[in-house]
Amino acid sequence: MNKLLDCKEFTKESLMELLELASKIKANPENYTEELKNKVIAVMFFEPSTRTRMSFEAAIQRLGGKMIVTENGKDNSSAKKGETLEDTIRVLDKYADAIVMRHSSDTAAIDADRVSRVPIINAGSGKSEHPTQALLDVFTILNRRGSLDGTKLAILGDLKYGRTTHSLLQLISLFDNVEVYGLSKKEFMLPQEYIDFLSSKGIKYTICNSFEELPRDIDALYHTRIQSERFEGDFGKEEYIIDKKVLDTFTDKAMVLHPLPRMNEIATDVDDDPRAMYFTQVENGMYVRMAILKSILVDNK
Ligand code: CP
Repeated sequence: MNKLLDCKEFTKESLMELLELASKIKANPENYTEELKNKVIAVMFFEPSTRTRMSFEAAIQRLGGKMIVTENGKDNSSAKKGETLEDTIRVLDKYADAIVMRHSSDTAAIDADRVSRVPIINAGSGKSEHPTQALLDVFTILNRRGSLDGTKLAILGDLKYGRTTHSLLQLISLFDNVEVYGLSKKEFMLPQEYIDFLSSKGIKYTICNSFEELPRDIDALYHTRIQSERFEGDFGKEEYIIDKKVLDTFTDKAMVLHPLPRMNEIATDVDDDPRAMYFTQVENGMYVRMAILKSILVDNK
């Protein structure tokens, strides 16, 4: 891997290779403390973040690298004065060996990559992609389930603007006998282009209107927050809330996933249930991002 712009670039083989590396790093992080010695990574976030930015910063430091950070690029970089993204990248690529970037534009990573001399790592671009999140999501499902083939996945919440779901669908589509079910308010249904994409991969997408319509033997309930920062107006709060009562209508294998932050989508009475995986996702995110950084900056294959 020599950059990470979106999930389209993965094959099943390259994805599994990266997840295998993440597993090795998670098992023995002490073996990887010198990997980024003498490397400087620019971490540039034009949108708010807790997990992605902090886990990238932790990953860089745990791999022995150094970093330069713009934590609120929209207000605290020269973007505020009107500098273009392209010019900003042409500056940062003189200082850093790679650029980790989050931006509100759907095409930001591709635009940055077009002018950058160093690898771009997409940490979230508008409503289009969040590839590092999708990688930690499939890593979590794989670790729990043992295989991604045959996964019965339910996606919930904001399927229209939620970039994590859009990226996850691309990765899960690499596997055999996958089934995908959607449950959302009508304002936030999955756009047709993603339904067509799943169809082109031979994956049936079933739109559901209640928790009861989801299969009882679902493997993963992947909930997401309504992305209110991406549209005008107020469509209210999430209606399909996973609480202990709802979760107990599914089997013991039904893992509950969420990229976080959550609003009201998952009740706190689920947090202690062994099927709640959202804080495991958080932990896995750091190891997956360590694997991404090593793969791009050290292995480069
Ligand atoms: N999941 C995720 O992207 O969280 P942050 O916005 O906190 O980085």
